[in-house]
Amino acid sequence: MSVRRLAEDSVQPAAFAFNAENQAWAEQTIKKFPEGRQASAVIPLLMRAQEQEGWVTKASIEHIAAMLAMPLIRVLEVATFYTQFQLKPVGTRAHIQVCGTTPCMLRGAEDLMKVCKHKIHHDPQTLNEDGTLSWEEVECQGACVNAPMVMIFKDAYEDLTPERLEEIIDAFASGKGDTIKPGPQIERDFSAPAGGPTSLTTSNPKAEG
Ligand code: FES
Repeated sequence: MSVRRLAEDSVQPAAFAFNAENQAWAEQTIKKFPEGRQASAVIPLLMRAQEQEGWVTKASIEHIAAMLAMPLIRVLEVATFYTQFQLKPVGTRAHIQVCGTTPCMLRGAEDLMKVCKHKIHHDPQTLNEDGTLSWEEVECQGACVNAPMVMIFKDAYEDLTPERLEEIIDAFASGKGDTIKPGPQIERDFSAPAGGPTSLTTSNPKAEG
């Protein structure tokens, strides 16, 4: 797990503002919470800022703290805690978050990270040469039954082998990430048993009467 700090000043933009559409959305979102509880909007606003800018800038954190009348440190705590928030520029086509927690580690996460090192950059959270790809190790993403897995932006890709991850990275690198179906990358429905059902495989004669 990496230390989560804000990006160096050299890459931080001087200012942040929501565009008109996002500003209207933010104002509506803040209104959903009772008077005095506007701080509850901090996570959706940070996520919208990330979707607009590609990552969470220092200026966006300051801007959101002011919008919600929150102490800056409180917004910083949220932004630096959740790995869903990117604190420095990430690949424009894919930022690959490899789960390295125990179930995924036991099922081959280290081999997936070797693929990322080889195909993207030796170091996590570092852009590849043309700025289109980056990767990092993250903690459990809640898809342990389909380990090992990676997240790419909001989608999970599960039941991975190194070979399948290479194919997925190649698709995103060439701008064809939308051709890859998220979820299990083997023949199984969601988190049902691999290879098909193992129980309730026959009909109930009594029910059929
Ligand atoms: S351990 Fe990887 S998703 Fe839970």
